[in-house]
Amino acid sequence: MKVFLNKRIPQTGIDLLKANNLEIITPQHDILSQHEWLELCKKADIILNVGKNKFGRNFFDNCPNIKAISLFSVGFDQVDIEEATKRKIPVGNTPNVLNRATSDIAFLLMQMVSRKANYNTEKVKSGNWKDFDALEQLGQELYGKTLGIFGLGRIGFEMAQKCKDAFQMNIIYHNRNHNEQAEKELYAKYVSFDELIEQSDVISIHANYTSEQMDLFNQSVFEKMKPNAIFINTARGGFHNETDLFEVLQSNKIWGAGLDVTNPEPMDSKNPLLQLPNVVVLPHIGSATVEARNGMSRIAAENIIAFSRNQPMPNCANP
Ligand code: DGY
Repeated sequence: MKVFLNKRIPQTGIDLLKANNLEIITPQHDILSQHEWLELCKKADIILNVGKNKFGRNFFDNCPNIKAISLFSVGFDQVDIEEATKRKIPVGNTPNVLNRATSDIAFLLMQMVSRKANYNTEKVKSGNWKDFDALEQLGQELYGKTLGIFGLGRIGFEMAQKCKDAFQMNIIYHNRNHNEQAEKELYAKYVSFDELIEQSDVISIHANYTSEQMDLFNQSVFEKMKPNAIFINTARGGFHNETDLFEVLQSNKIWGAGLDVTNPEPMDSKNPLLQLPNVVVLPHIGSATVEARNGMSRIAAENIIAFSRNQPMPNCANP
């Protein structure tokens, strides 16, 4: 079977595919036009996808030979899962191996925003570090504050655990289901969406994204947050409305925001959010550690190998 791999990945997965006699098609150059990408997809039986290509009805109509998709990501919002399932196309993803790395980034952003790290680094670089000033650029401490997790799955759990261990934060969460492990081990309390917004000092998103949730965090939600609230998004940029976020941050209605994800990606370097002192933006690096990316490479390959042997993918997004 032929596997189309559209971008480079750690060697672990490539070696596994080769050891299982799977032929790998790779592009001649790094950045493919939509047309070039589609033409290569047509030559393959299986897609190993890195990045945000979309797989919907059009794609499946254009590439009738595709039998399986293995995503190099835990998120699968770019795939119309219902359509893939209807066509009996399994869609693999790479959960668990990036829980630590992604929650580390949420934890890092939370601290950077609480202590205005970004703004202060700029101050040093621009030669504006003057004399000691007891009232200048004061941060807020996180000890004993309330962390609100939106979407308490595996990554949300790790974030909550770090916040509990480091800062003895109280954990509240809103989720589709109760997370019994978090309630038992972290004393996490299930609350309504409105309670989460109104009671949290830090709100961190860790949910799976679907298009129905686009702009869920909008002006009316931001305005219900506490004035010291820190908004963290390491899940998907579509969750927050960027214009509304800009407004509340510019008018200091909330403390600040830390974003590892934006909509669109990459963010334009002239984006006005980047001019605000209370915002930190990272270029979607949640899973960017050697350990996580090696794990993702291995799991993406294992999903393909299982499929090629007529076995269920070990990590599959289809219901
Ligand atoms: C994921 O795995 O979903 C990360 O966001 C990278 O896309």
